[in-house]
Amino acid sequence: MLAKKFDPLEKKVWLSSPTMHGEELKYITEAYETNWMSTVGKNINEVERLCQEKTGCKYAVALSAGTAALHLAARLAGERLYGVHRADQGSLQGHKVFCSDMTFDATINPVAYENGEAVFIDTEYDTWNMDPVALEKAFEIYPDVKLIIVAHLYGTPGKIDEIRKIADAHGALIIEDAAESLGASYKGRQTGTFGDFNAISFNGNKIITGSSGGMFMTDSKEDAEKVRKWSTQSRENAPWYQHEEIGYNYRMSNVIAGVIRGQFPHLEEHIAQKKAIFERYRDGFKGLPVSMNPIDFENSEPNYWLSCMIISPEAMCKQVRGESEALYIPEKGKSCPTEILEAIASINAEGRPIWKPMHMQPIYRSHAFITREGNGRAKTNAYIAGGAIGVDGKPLDVGMDIFHRGLCLPSDNKMTPDEQDKIIEVIRACFE
Ligand SMILES: Cc1ncc(COP(=O)(O)O)c(C=O)c1O
Repeated sequence: MLAKKFDPLEKKVWLSSPTMHGEELKYITEAYETNWMSTVGKNINEVERLCQEKTGCKYAVALSAGTAALHLAARLAGERLYGVHRADQGSLQGHKVFCSDMTFDATINPVAYENGEAVFIDTEYDTWNMDPVALEKAFEIYPDVKLIIVAHLYGTPGKIDEIRKIADAHGALIIEDAAESLGASYKGRQTGTFGDFNAISFNGNKIITGSSGGMFMTDSKEDAEKVRKWSTQSRENAPWYQHEEIGYNYRMSNVIAGVIRGQFPHLEEHIAQKKAIFERYRDGFKGLPVSMNPIDFENSEPNYWLSCMIISPEAMCKQVRGESEALYIPEKGKSCPTEILEAIASINAEGRPIWKPMHMQPIYRSHAFITREGNGRAKTNAYIAGGAIGVDGKPLDVGMDIFHRGLCLPSDNKMTPDEQDKIIEVIRACFE
């Protein structure tokens, strides 16, 4: 089948790019004119206050990145669980940590920074997040584990109540990675407040951005103070540079904080725009053998950060992915993420594959991976399959299946309805 040719869009439509409003410049300029060009200043204080106010979390510490927030959360958890941090050992020192599998690697790299060992928990279809059933199974296999790191992918909250119940039953702490989900809520409560330690990201593609930046959040004053101290090289209260523990240069800049401060009043507006984009895709795909990423589990309200789609198993053409390349065989009436991504790229629109699950990543392949059925290793040849069934006749694990059949759609706030209609038209043509 020959692909239908479409005219390219006049300007590139990005997956999710920064959307500025003007107030950002005011606060950056204020930092400049008052000479608070530093990691101290009014913008930082204000952004911390805004995060506390928005989420309801008691303490917020502004950092250079969401990754920094997750790293210091991992160190705090390790120190609380296993004793004092040593620079040569980290605070997790060979201890296993249960982690979301289908996420960005920044969620789980901090486990390695602290010398822990990530064990990946499979995903479930209701929310595309950590499967509580697989988590329960993981505790049967590794009853001594005391830490869980859970992410809310694409701004849709995971089953955090169930995960909290399981954590409490096993005396485990939770690090909540709300990097992608600022403004999303679960049963009326904001994400970023469910963990013992929580992280938000303000990097360039997030729902609001500082160009970079992150926030550590907790209800514990003592933990917030530790993070604040560690993030400024662990300086002790002395007239000279005095250090009793290892520190980092992780504090947020007052200039970056100015951008975030200017973005904050626009958070709800961005969410509304992203929601409209999601609904336009959903309506535009009516009649196709596809569905959108899940949004409506148990009164959760996502922030709609990225719109994604997933192709029904029977409508998948053959698609094979190696480590860095993908091939597919076009087939009438069927398609696959690779074909769709190529088609939308050809008209100047940016999509992306679903975040490749961690248990499939070369760097983490030797780690344990737990599915509902127990200790499941990924089958390297399984994603040659046309759907949820591997070539050996066994079902793929859930994360692998969503990665195989799903993709992230252009979700930029600034995309016009006309541009989006064109993208929808191109995608529809893939199934002709
Ligand atoms: C799920 C998830 N966790 C963590 C991060 C890390 O945040 P940052 O880029 O601010 O370090 C990101 C974003 O990049 C993310 O999407």
